[in-house]
Amino acid sequence: MESGEVPASTRHPAGHADATAGPVRTYRRVVAARVGGPEVLELIEERVPEPLIGEVRVRVEAAGVGFPDLLMREGTYPGGPRPPFTPGCDVVGVVDAVGPGVAGVRRGDRVAALTYHPPVFGGYAEVVCLPAESVVAVPAGLDPAAVVSLVLNYVTAYQLLRRRARVRRGERLLVHGAAGGVGTAAMQLGRLFGLERYGTCSAAGARVVADLGGTPIDFRTEDFVRRLRALPGGGVDVVLDGIGGPVSVRSYRVLRRGGRLVLFGHRSTLVDGRRSARRLAAFYAGGATAVLANLLPGGRRVLTYRIAILRDRHPDWFRADLGVLLDLLAQGEIAPLIAERIPLAEARRAHERLGEGGVTGKLILIP
Ligand SMILES: NC(=O)c1ccc[n+]([C@@H]2O[C@H](COP(=O)([O-])OP(=O)(O)OC[C@H]3O[C@@H](n4cnc5c(N)ncnc54)[C@H](OP(=O)(O)O)[C@@H]3O)[C@@H](O)[C@H]2O)c1
Repeated sequence: MESGEVPASTRHPAGHADATAGPVRTYRRVVAARVGGPEVLELIEERVPEPLIGEVRVRVEAAGVGFPDLLMREGTYPGGPRPPFTPGCDVVGVVDAVGPGVAGVRRGDRVAALTYHPPVFGGYAEVVCLPAESVVAVPAGLDPAAVVSLVLNYVTAYQLLRRRARVRRGERLLVHGAAGGVGTAAMQLGRLFGLERYGTCSAAGARVVADLGGTPIDFRTEDFVRRLRALPGGGVDVVLDGIGGPVSVRSYRVLRRGGRLVLFGHRSTLVDGRRSARRLAAFYAGGATAVLANLLPGGRRVLTYRIAILRDRHPDWFRADLGVLLDLLAQGEIAPLIAERIPLAEARRAHERLGEGGVTGKLILIP
């Protein structure tokens, strides 16, 4: 990716450049210039923004790459940003400037944040300005790449299990995409919560799922409905479905009485990382059918989850849950799988890798 002059229309909406402040300092960030494939990602250079009232400026040490970033780039993420925008939902870094009216956060603090504050999405950057109340202090001594894995993937997995499905020890869990970013987090947390765990994955991910103590089910060659219904007691108590479409409808069919299916993703809407109109239609048809199943008798429920919606409704839950996860990381109870650390300038390659599939764990951009 080449770096270049930034057109005025693509300037970062958070913060503002201070024209009076001595020599011009610049920073680099990635911009999705238009809707499309990984080739729309460009590296641009512009003036370092000054934090506005209530904001802090964070010098990014690690930025997560997640499947939602690909959906936003392809323009299929509901309510997602319009280009040009900087992708990336999660960052860890050090506060290097504090805006007026900020209390409780100081220069030099290491913090983590979900950078999903429309119109700002941008974690793929050397610096980002964020609302001070959205950042969470990170204890010393933790690897920024491990910590950034907690912000989106582990908080999502934790809240899916604890706050939506409300799992109980001894229950049986099915995680779709169990070798991926959110999937590996759910498998690790499921073990701590005392769950019997099954995970769909491709052949490439089977080893990872087994190493995490789960039973892998190959989504390409095996019928997960038949396999799980054949278990003693027939079926599962909880399904986490970040795939969507026909998978959602079939997942409902493996629920036992009292079971919960939580829909949280659109993985199936991209083919080789690119949008597919046919898959998008199947996704909405499958999701609607699954949600309508709530009208059926049988005590099974279909729930939905989106991290930013829950964070905005319950900012205290987000902080508390990320705090619990930081403690678990510090105690060695969880160990995020880092698939690769990639230089910021190679964000395009990170998107190509995630779109191709077969990535186990989380891809991290290092500015
Ligand atoms: N609701 C929220 O707040 C929230 C938050 C974070 C993520 N998400 C969503 O969660 C999903 C997963 O995100 P991620 O970053 O963890 O993605 P990821 O790392 O790409 O993981 C997805 C996994 O799903 C596997 N997979 C693909 N098709 C499958 C199928 N038909 N059945 C079972 N598994 C399949 C993939 O395997 P291969 O790569 O081997 O093909 C991959 O390992 C995405 O839809 C994302 O948008 C939602």
